[in-house]
Amino acid sequence: VAEQLIVRTPDGEYPIQIERGLLARLGDHAAAWGLDRRCAVVTNTTLAPLYGERLASALPNAVLVTIPDGEQHKTLDTVAMLYADFVSAGLDRSSTVIALGGGVVGDTVGFAAATYMRGVRLVQIPTSLLAMVDSSVGGKVGVDLPQGKNLVGAFKQPDAVLIDPDALATLPPREYRQGLAEIIKHGLLADEMILSLVRTSAIDEVIRRAVQVKIEVVQADPFEQNIRAHLNLGHTFAHALEQVSGYGIPHGEAVAMGLAAALRLSVRLRLCDSALMEGVESLLRDVGLPTRTPPMDAELVYAAMATDKKWRGGHSRFILLRQVGQPVIVEDVPVSDVMTTLAEVIG
Ligand SMILES: NC(=O)c1ccc[n+]([C@@H]2O[C@H](COP(=O)([O-])OP(=O)(O)OC[C@H]3O[C@@H](n4cnc5c(N)ncnc54)[C@H](O)[C@@H]3O)[C@@H](O)[C@H]2O)c1
Ligand SMILES: [Zn+2]
Repeated sequence: VAEQLIVRTPDGEYPIQIERGLLARLGDHAAAWGLDRRCAVVTNTTLAPLYGERLASALPNAVLVTIPDGEQHKTLDTVAMLYADFVSAGLDRSSTVIALGGGVVGDTVGFAAATYMRGVRLVQIPTSLLAMVDSSVGGKVGVDLPQGKNLVGAFKQPDAVLIDPDALATLPPREYRQGLAEIIKHGLLADEMILSLVRTSAIDEVIRRAVQVKIEVVQADPFEQNIRAHLNLGHTFAHALEQVSGYGIPHGEAVAMGLAAALRLSVRLRLCDSALMEGVESLLRDVGLPTRTPPMDAELVYAAMATDKKWRGGHSRFILLRQVGQPVIVEDVPVSDVMTTLAEVIG
């Protein structure tokens, strides 16, 4: 069954198609997605032999462009290589760039598409669970700098997002779990059903619901001026844990630990009851995600949080939860409450 969701943005609207087998059939339906004209299928070295080569040869007028795999290649150097490949492939302002891959491909290729000739058409084909439910929706694209992650970027709405859950068959299990952490976050923010479905095998329905949550948030706040901050539930802790671990903790696992910390802090501040916190921790554990961190120095974690762009003038700022569907932004949380929370989640 095919599901189509529509995202309305300040620049118009675009469809998100969720359909098993879509990738294998795309050659026969190229015109429906505007993929019969000149286009570049951009993917990485892992995904080219799995999906990229076949897709590029199934489309009537496509070239395949391959970038190296890994967050360390989400850089301006890779973007410069893409520009050169786009020129030599003869891409012009009416051409389409297809970003086929996880969030790294989506962000990097999306940024190249946003800036090459001041912007060409972009179709996102996310292949990781995280990219399907999170990074491919919302229009944020960009790359890392040596000084920090995601420091250069743009808002670039895609012309379409095509999600084929069949692609998850080859996703390594640990990468799959990174996506589950964001899905559970989306459930906590706005859709309690996700929290029960995520324990079942109904992954297509889980994806649809998690995408819908992200759509609603980005539609309400397309340029990240207010409630899009809710998507940072668990992320203030997560970013600090990633940083202090020297990026040894993968993002989704850090988000799982961060969700546990955010729920514990919510209980401590009497915003929510401990049953919700315990339920979330047991759900995270049941799907194979960690709720405790490796041993680390809580002072360093606090210091890393204090460098958060959103902590203006030393005022702390957390996204916490009153109950499922009721996130709340809390500022100036007492340092002692945060430190006690860290002591609870640090292993
Ligand atoms: N733009 C946004 O709004 C947004 C939101 C969240 C995250 N992000 C970004 O997304 C990135 C993380 O994305 P990710 O978790 O997808 O990581 P990723 O792109 O590095 O993919 C993880 C690994 O899985 C592989 N892979 C992906 N799909 C596969 C498949 N179907 N079969 C086999 N292997 C597959 C990739 O090659 C990679 O090795 C980060 O750079 C993060 O900053 C962006
Ligand atoms: Zn995240």
